[in-house]
Amino acid sequence: MHQREHFNSRLAIVLALAGSAIGLGNIWRFPYVVGEYGGAAFIIVYIAFSLCISLPIMLSESIIGRHARKGVYCALRDLAPRRPWWKWAGLVAVLGAFIISSYYSVVGGWSVDYMMRALMKGFSPDAPDNVMGIFGRMSSSVWEPIAAHTIFLGLCAAIVMLGVKNGIERFNKFSIPLLFILIVGMLVFSVNLPGARGGVEYLLKPDFSKMTAKGLSCALGQSFFSMSLGIGAVLTYASYMKPDQGILSAGVWTTLFDAGFAIMAGFVVMPAVFSAGIAPGAGPSLVFESIPYIFAKMGAASPLLARVASVTFFLTILIAAVTSEISMLEVCVSQLVEQRQISRRKASILVFILAWGLGVLCSLSFGVLGHVRILGSGIFEFFDQLSSNYIMLLGALAFAIFVGWQMKKADVEAELTNGGSLRASSRLFKFLYPVIRYVIPPAIVLIFITNLL
Ligand code: TRP
Repeated sequence: MHQREHFNSRLAIVLALAGSAIGLGNIWRFPYVVGEYGGAAFIIVYIAFSLCISLPIMLSESIIGRHARKGVYCALRDLAPRRPWWKWAGLVAVLGAFIISSYYSVVGGWSVDYMMRALMKGFSPDAPDNVMGIFGRMSSSVWEPIAAHTIFLGLCAAIVMLGVKNGIERFNKFSIPLLFILIVGMLVFSVNLPGARGGVEYLLKPDFSKMTAKGLSCALGQSFFSMSLGIGAVLTYASYMKPDQGILSAGVWTTLFDAGFAIMAGFVVMPAVFSAGIAPGAGPSLVFESIPYIFAKMGAASPLLARVASVTFFLTILIAAVTSEISMLEVCVSQLVEQRQISRRKASILVFILAWGLGVLCSLSFGVLGHVRILGSGIFEFFDQLSSNYIMLLGALAFAIFVGWQMKKADVEAELTNGGSLRASSRLFKFLYPVIRYVIPPAIVLIFITNLL
C-alpha cells in the first residue's frame, strides 16, 4: 500500500482551496453578472449566500473528504458501505468534474491565446474596433483554439502528474500570492483611469429591484461555481489534509479570499469599461472583447503601458484558470488511482486524453460544429448547463444530506473540531449542524426548481 500524500501545512491547504475557487468564475463571470443584476445589491446577496449556504457545503465536503481520506467516489462508497447508491452519486460528481475540466480548458486556452497575442504583438491601436472582432474569428477557427486548449490542458495535467505536494502544492504556493499582487496592482491602475468613477459608482450603487428570483438563483449559482462546490473538488483536496489542520478556518479563509478576489476583479473590469465608454452589460464577451478594445485605445496614447497592462491582465486570468483546472483534474485522477489502482502518471495521461477529446468538441462548437444541437443547445453550452445547473447542485445536495443524515453526528463533530480541540469550531458546530440538515437541502431544491422554470 503506498502512503497517501498530504498537504504540508495549514497554509498549503488554504492556498490549494483558494486556487481551486479563484478562477475564470471570478474574473470573467462575476463582473458581468454583477452588471446584469444590479451592482452592489448583487454583491451583498452574493456575500450573504457565500457565507450562509456555500460555506456550510464547503465544510460538508471537507468533512467527508478528510474523514474518508479518499477521493469522492471511494469516500462515499467506504463511508456508506450498506447504501450502495451513495457511490453512484460519487460517480456523477467525478463525471461532473470531468465535463467541467473539458470545457473549462477551452476557455483556459483562449486565455493562453490572448496572453500570447498581448505578449507578441499587443492589441493594435490603429483600429480599436477591429480588436473586438478578434474573439469571434479566433474562437470559431479550427486549429488555433485547439492548439491553445492543448497547451493549457497539457500544462495542468503535467502539474497534477507531479503529485499533490510536488505539483499542486508547489504551483499554488507561488501562484496564489502572485495573483493577489497582480489584481491589487491592476485595481490601483484601473480606478485611476480617466472616467473610472462611473464604474466604481456602478458597483457601489445597490439596485435591489433587480434582485428577482432569477437574480437570487444566479447569485447562488455563481457562488457555488466560484467556490468549486458539488463535484468533489473540495472533498478531494480535503482528503489530503492532516488531522491537525482545521477544516473551519480553511473554509472561512477560502470563502473570504474567493469573494474578495471576485470583488476586486469587478473593480478592475468595470472602471476600465466605463473609462473606455463601453456598455457594462456586454455579458460573457466583456473580458475577451471589451477589455482588449480598452487596451487598444490605451495603446494609442502609451503603447508600453498598454502592453504591460494587457499582458498582466491575461496572465492573471491564465494563472487563475490553471489553479482551478488542476483541482478538477485531481478529482478524476484520484478516482482512477484509488479505484482502478493505476499509477498517477498513467491516470493523468488518461484523463488528459479524454478531457482533451471532449474539449475539442466543445471548442469546435463555436465554429464548424456550430450546427450540432444537444437538447436544443450547442455542445459547449450543453455541457456548461448540464454541469452548472444540474450536476453541481445535485452534488452539493448529496454532500449536505450525506453529512447531515448519513454520517454519525459524533463523527461529523469530531472531524470539524479535531476531536473537540478547536474551541471556536465546537461552538459553531451547534449552529452549523442544523443548518446542514434542515436549511441547505431545501434551499438547493428551491434553486433547482427555479432553474427548471
Ligand atoms: N471555481 C472555479 C472558478 O471560479 C472553477 C472551478 C474549479 C469549479 N473547480 C470547480 C467549478 C469545481 C465547479 C466545480 O472559475
